[in-house]
Amino acid sequence: MAGLKGSDIISINDFSSSEIEHVFDVADTMSKGTKTINSLLKGKLMAAMFFEPSTRTRFSFEASMHRLGGDVLDFANTESTSVAKGENLADTIRIIDSYSDVIVIRHKYEGAARLAAKFASHPVINAGDGSGQHPTQTLLDLYTIRKAKGNIKGLRVGLVGDLKYGRTVHSLAYALSKIGAKIYLVSPEMLQMPDHILSDINKASIAGKTERLEDVIGELDVIYMTRVQKERFGDLNEYAKVSRAYTITRDTMANAQKDAILMHPLPRINEISADVDSMKNAKYFEQAANGIPIRMALLAMVLGAM
Ligand code: CP
Repeated sequence: MAGLKGSDIISINDFSSSEIEHVFDVADTMSKGTKTINSLLKGKLMAAMFFEPSTRTRFSFEASMHRLGGDVLDFANTESTSVAKGENLADTIRIIDSYSDVIVIRHKYEGAARLAAKFASHPVINAGDGSGQHPTQTLLDLYTIRKAKGNIKGLRVGLVGDLKYGRTVHSLAYALSKIGAKIYLVSPEMLQMPDHILSDINKASIAGKTERLEDVIGELDVIYMTRVQKERFGDLNEYAKVSRAYTITRDTMANAQKDAILMHPLPRINEISADVDSMKNAKYFEQAANGIPIRMALLAMVLGAM
């Protein structure tokens, strides 16, 4: 990916470490919010096509587009579109592509964003495809880690919870491995990281694998919690067996390093108790807020304004 102008953003694997750093540099510039930045995308239209629920990703993309002076076509409710009449994804994309300059898509099927990119002439950004990837989340996750810790290489990062269905941890594992962090996989047996991802990433980057968070929490610089993805389970009895696998409390944090940071892509259900929110380790709200400079940077870059 040499420069992002005109590019689709489908997988975190499309980014080299230096390209990720460049996105961070542009995000730093975006945080300044100057007059020039606020009109960078004047006259441009972003289509937000969310076939699955979202709060953070959808609203931060929409806010980012508005903050850059652009406009948004909202596709948040498929019931009010011809998708409800049975129109297929390819035709829907062809039409929306002809009305907009960039498409942001979230879909329940893995591979849907890549398929959309095949039928769109404008850039397509994957805002989460089933249990596949969530590359823009990973960029804001890495940005949050770098801001808190100063660097990412060599850090010990625990990925905790639903490593099977969680698209955020799939993208993050690829990126951490590429950058040279040490990954600790913490999940119930039923929710382990898929083999195809483990075989793709650098073996040396996996520092540990366990079902018990207490075995490794004291070693971690970053504790990355995830929600068990109820919507991906065919059998809710199976979900019930693991839905409360891990809950971080103030007592749990007493065993963590003093300066360990606690992250979560959110929404959380019961993975982090509310009394942890006021601890200085808690970075998940700052993490969600970082969606704005990162997504402003990505929109400006794919539309050739930066
Ligand atoms: N982190 C994340 O993707 O949140 P939303 O589902 O609310 O967009």
